[in-house]
Amino acid sequence: MQQPLYSDVASSIGFDDRDAANVLSLSRKVKTEIPSLANRVYLRLVQHEGAVQILAGGDHQTDNPGDVIAEWLVELLEGRHDKQHRDKQRRVGAARVRAGVPQQYIVTGIELVWQELSQWTQHANLPDRDEVLSSLHRLLMVELAIMLEDYKRSYVETIRERERSVVEEKLTRAEHLAEIGQLAASLAHEIKNPLAGISGAIQVIRDAMPAEDPHHPIVAEILGQINRLDATVKDLLQYARPTPPRATKVALGVVVNRVLSVLEKEPAVLRVRIAYEPVPASAVVHADEGQIEQLLINLILNAAHASDDGDVIHVGVVSGGDEMKLVVQDEGAGMSPEVRERTFEPFFTTKARGTGLGLTICRRIAEVHGGDIELESEPDVGTTVTVTLPIGDKGHRTDSHSQERSAAR
Ligand SMILES: Nc1ncnc2c1ncn2[C@@H]1O[C@H](COP(=O)(O)OP(=O)(O)O)[C@@H](O)[C@H]1O
Ligand SMILES: [Mg+2]
Repeated sequence: MQQPLYSDVASSIGFDDRDAANVLSLSRKVKTEIPSLANRVYLRLVQHEGAVQILAGGDHQTDNPGDVIAEWLVELLEGRHDKQHRDKQRRVGAARVRAGVPQQYIVTGIELVWQELSQWTQHANLPDRDEVLSSLHRLLMVELAIMLEDYKRSYVETIRERERSVVEEKLTRAEHLAEIGQLAASLAHEIKNPLAGISGAIQVIRDAMPAEDPHHPIVAEILGQINRLDATVKDLLQYARPTPPRATKVALGVVVNRVLSVLEKEPAVLRVRIAYEPVPASAVVHADEGQIEQLLINLILNAAHASDDGDVIHVGVVSGGDEMKLVVQDEGAGMSPEVRERTFEPFFTTKARGTGLGLTICRRIAEVHGGDIELESEPDVGTTVTVTLPIGDKGHRTDSHSQERSAAR
């Protein structure tokens, strides 16, 4: 049975039964010549860099390319337009798209076949030569139209598939986060209160100890470890139950200064030098100040952890159009591609004392503000993290204008 696409194209090009009969009679006469003719087409295809790829895929990868062309030509001239033939054409079309064959070479291929076949027809001195040639020409145009249509369909399908997999990936990530989040939240809650109790009790014991008691360092160590646990639990809770941003006008310069003065006493930060250009007072975003602070703290701590003694960490604010970029750049250890790939995963850490939640939380903070976070890293060269935040108050997901904003972008 003729396939719908073939019938459509044939009737629009005007290829009719008479043409089919003409081509069929030609096919009988040219049959013995086809292998050598196909081989010539192949040799000419090879001369066009890239064009030979139109033979990519299909069922014949191991066959001699000349034979592939010959088989296709025989089927074409004999007028096979059944479902089996059509399915094969589709597969070949999809393989071409996958192989990235530029569409123009399909036209090149058809043109070469036309040149070889029409030349042979001239020489063969057929009585009804002109009529056969014009039928042949129409047939090749039909075939070309079908090939281009297949190419387009496969191309569109490939793009759709890619879009689908991006959406699926996002969904899986969201589900994963939700599951871990619930678990983390209940665990963190279980830990938080007893921890506060232990900390209070130990402080009571410490305060009751005589100043010369030799156990003071041990008690201090216990309290230090409790603080560390407490910070982890806070991270977990923040990660698991993020508070929606409460947005106000935030001067980024003020935030940077405050964060730096808080971090000054951190052992990891004491070892490095922090360089930053004074941030202009005009660098203002509409955001949740506490969250932006937390984001910066996480990024600067990460940078410090990756740095050697005396390394420089650059902290900067770059304003551009309707957005602000916060940049934290270090010249530290950088990341291998494997670590880079997983660095935003919740609980992924390479540190003995890490929670692996810092960057996950940073990304979420950037996203709920309608912005994003980008990370570039090279082993032994360093890492640059850039957080982009929209300036206006229209970037928040919670904001009713967010749709308009993203549509206008
Ligand atoms: N600036 C950086 N330089 C090198 N590696 C980094 C940097 N920031 C993050 N990483 C890598 O990403 C991992 C995850 O970071 P993060 O989510 O903040 O969790 P954590 O700091 O608790 O390990 C880190 O363990 C580290 O391997
Ligand atoms: Mg971290």
